[in-house]
Amino acid sequence: MKIAIGNDHTDPTLKIKVKEHLEAQGHEVTDTGCAVGEKCDYPDAAGKVCRLVQSGQAELGILICGTGVGMSLAANKYKGIRAACCSDTFSARMTREHNDANILCFGTRVVGEGTALDLADIFVNTPYSHEERHERRIAMITALEDNWSEQK
Ligand code: RB5
Repeated sequence: MKIAIGNDHTDPTLKIKVKEHLEAQGHEVTDTGCAVGEKCDYPDAAGKVCRLVQSGQAELGILICGTGVGMSLAANKYKGIRAACCSDTFSARMTREHNDANILCFGTRVVGEGTALDLADIFVNTPYSHEERHERRIAMITALEDNWSEQK
């Protein structure tokens, strides 16, 4: 699977571990995020991953900041993006199955390495259910975007 990953300056080493973990499973991971020693604003970092997902160059995205919250707030402003901030594996699984979330967000200051790798594994490996009730509800979310202008 093609996955885009991005992060801000709060512990880029966690991003590197998640990237290497997914690559070891055969995934192609595009890193658009902040390197060790750099400073990055999370809305900018979110935009880089969102654009890759919007264009189809990545099937899923992962965004990491201090809490995951800022990244999810920014990412959900992009048309077609359904970003879920998760710190537990149940939510990471359910947001793929029910919400067809296409971006996972989590925080370096919230989850440790083990949970971060589990979150990424579950998010990437759980398919969307395609059940009618979920299709209908996701269409309702998409309808909310209709008055939004296209993102730059
Ligand atoms: C950066 O200090 C921090 O605000 C950011 O990483 C994130 O947690 C915001 O939601």
